[in-house]
Amino acid sequence: MPYDLIVLGGGPAGYKASERAAKAGLNVLCIEERNLGGVCLNEGCIPTKTLLYSAKLYENALNAEKYGVQAKELSLDHTKVIARKNKVVKTLVAGVRSALKASGVLVVQGKGVIEGRSPDGYAVRVDEDIYFSKRLLVATGSSAAIPPIPGLKEGLTSGFVVTSREFLNLNERSQSLTVIGGGVIGLELASYFNAIGSKVTVVELLDHIAGENDSDLIGILQKDYEKRGIEFKLKTKATMISSEGVITICDEKEEFIASERVLLSIGRTPNTKDIGLDSINVLTKHGAIVTDEYMKTNIPEVYAAGDVNGKSMLAHTAYREAEVAVNNMLGKRDRMLYRAIPSVLYTNPELSSVGETEETARNKGLEIAVVSIPMRFSGRYLAENEGGNGICKLVADKKKNILLGAQALGNYSSEFIVAAGTFIELELPLDDIKEIVFPHPTVSEILREAVFEYK
Ligand code: NAI
Repeated sequence: MPYDLIVLGGGPAGYKASERAAKAGLNVLCIEERNLGGVCLNEGCIPTKTLLYSAKLYENALNAEKYGVQAKELSLDHTKVIARKNKVVKTLVAGVRSALKASGVLVVQGKGVIEGRSPDGYAVRVDEDIYFSKRLLVATGSSAAIPPIPGLKEGLTSGFVVTSREFLNLNERSQSLTVIGGGVIGLELASYFNAIGSKVTVVELLDHIAGENDSDLIGILQKDYEKRGIEFKLKTKATMISSEGVITICDEKEEFIASERVLLSIGRTPNTKDIGLDSINVLTKHGAIVTDEYMKTNIPEVYAAGDVNGKSMLAHTAYREAEVAVNNMLGKRDRMLYRAIPSVLYTNPELSSVGETEETARNKGLEIAVVSIPMRFSGRYLAENEGGNGICKLVADKKKNILLGAQALGNYSSEFIVAAGTFIELELPLDDIKEIVFPHPTVSEILREAVFEYK
C-alpha cells in the first residue's frame, strides 16, 4: 500500500507537516538524513539562543554594578555552555521524535531520493528500500553557501574555517575570530564571542550589516558593538584564506586579518541537489523549488515547504508553509501570506522587525508616514536597560491609516513584534490599535506609544 504522504526532511517544515497530516488521518512516512528537528533544533535557532542566553547572563553580571549589584570573580566556561546547549538540543529533538510517534508518523533515517512516478505513486529510495506515496512534501532545508574563495575548501577541511554547523560544537573559545558575512548568523555568533572576550572582526560585502533591517536601528546596533570591541569591515570582500587568517579587499586596498578561527556565514543555499527532483521534473529557480501560495510545485501532489523553496528561510515561515501545504492536501483551501512574517536578530539588544521598513516602503514608491520614538519611553525598558538607546519605528500607509511595518531595537522586542505583525496582517486602522489595552509595565507598550505619535 502506498503512503498517503512521504515527507522528505524532518526539520521544522517536515516534522510539522508530518504531525499535522498524520493527526488528520493520513498515513505518513517522514525521511530524515541527519537529525529530527533539522537545522533549527540541532545547529541553528535553538543552539544559538542557548549560547546567547549564557552570554547575556554574563554581560548582565559584568554590568551588575550599574544596577546596584556587586558581582565578583565572574567567568564564563564556554565548554559548559556548549554542554548545556547539547542538553537543550537533545531534549527538544526527543520531544519531536515522541510527538511524531504519538501521531503515528513512521520515521526512517537515511537520505531519501525521488525515483520517478509509477502506478503505485511517487517512488522514494532510502538506501536499499523503496517507498511509494500518493503525495510528496519536499522539506529538505538549506545548507551554508560555500563561495569559490581560494583557500576556503582547504580551510574547511582543516577546521580553521567553520560554518555555523561546526561552530556551535567547538568546545574551545578562540582568542580571535574573523566572521565573513555580517548577516543574521554572522552577527549572532559575533555577539556571543564578543561577549565572552574574543577579538571579533566582521567582514561584510555591503555598506551595512544586518541585511534589509532598518538603517537607523542597524546604525545604533553597530555603534553599540563597536564600543564593545567588534571591528566591522564594510564594503569589504574576503578574497583568500590562508592558514592564519583572511585576505580582504576594500576600495582596491588589500588587508590581511590574522585570526585563530574563521566563521563563514554568507547565506544559505536550498538543498535541491541529488534528491531526484529531475526524475519527476520539479521546477527550480536559482536552486530553489518554485512554489505557489498553496505550497504546490509544478507537479501534481508534490509540495515544497521551508528553506528549500528559498522564500523566507525562517523556521516560523517553515511551520506555517507546512500547515498550508497539509491543509491543501486535505482539500482545505489555505494560502501562504508573507507580508507580516516577523524576523529577529538575537543580538543583545535584539533587533525585531515585521513588514516594511522605511527603506523598503520608499523603494516600492509607497506613500508612508514614519514615526520613531526612543525605547526609553517604556518604563519597563528604562528600568531594565541602564544606558539603553534603542528605538521603535513604525511605517504606516498614509492614505489607508494602517500599519505596514514595525521595527524595534531592544530586549523583549522578539516577544512583542508579533503584535505588530497581527495589526499588519489584519489591516487594523491606527485608531483601532489605539483602543487596544497593553499590559503595564511591559516593553510592548512602546508599540502603543508609537501608534499614538500618529495624530
Ligand atoms: P545572510 O543572508 O543573513 O547574510 C549573509 C551576509 O554575507 C550578507 O550581508 C552578504 O552581503 C554577506 N556576504 C556575502 N558574500 C560575502 C563575501 N564574499 N564577503 C563578505 N560578505 C559577504 O546569511 P546568513 O547570516 O548566513 O544566514 C542565513 C539564513 O539563515 C538567513 O537567511 C536567515 O533566514 C537564517 N537565520 C535566521 C536567524 C534568525 O532569524 N534569527 C538566525 C540564523 C539564521
